[in-house]
Amino acid sequence: MTIAGISLVLLLGIVNLILILFQVSTGKKWVKIHFAWHRRLGVLLLLTALVHAVLAYLSR
Ligand code: HEM
Repeated sequence: MTIAGISLVLLLGIVNLILILFQVSTGKKWVKIHFAWHRRLGVLLLLTALVHAVLAYLSR
């Protein structure tokens, strides 16, 4: 499955990497945000990581 010629698994992998960097930097309070965003985006990361894993498995 691709979007504009780029694999959706690759795109989700990049999104996951960005979300992990956000989670660690806000969790450690290196970057200060309203902490509710740490919790919300933590749940989003769970979902995007699951979709990434399922699509990668199905496209073997
Ligand atoms: C729904 C998901 C999440 C919730 C509810 C949550 C909640 C929290 C809470 C309450 C803290 C403690 C903050 C404080 O001491 O003031 C924390 C810290 C932290 N979180 Fe999250 N978090 C979530 C997801 C994530 C994810 C997915 C990551 C990384 C990928 C992450 C990385 C961290 C880190 C690195 C810390 C700092 C820990 C420390 O310094 O001891 N969190 N988080």
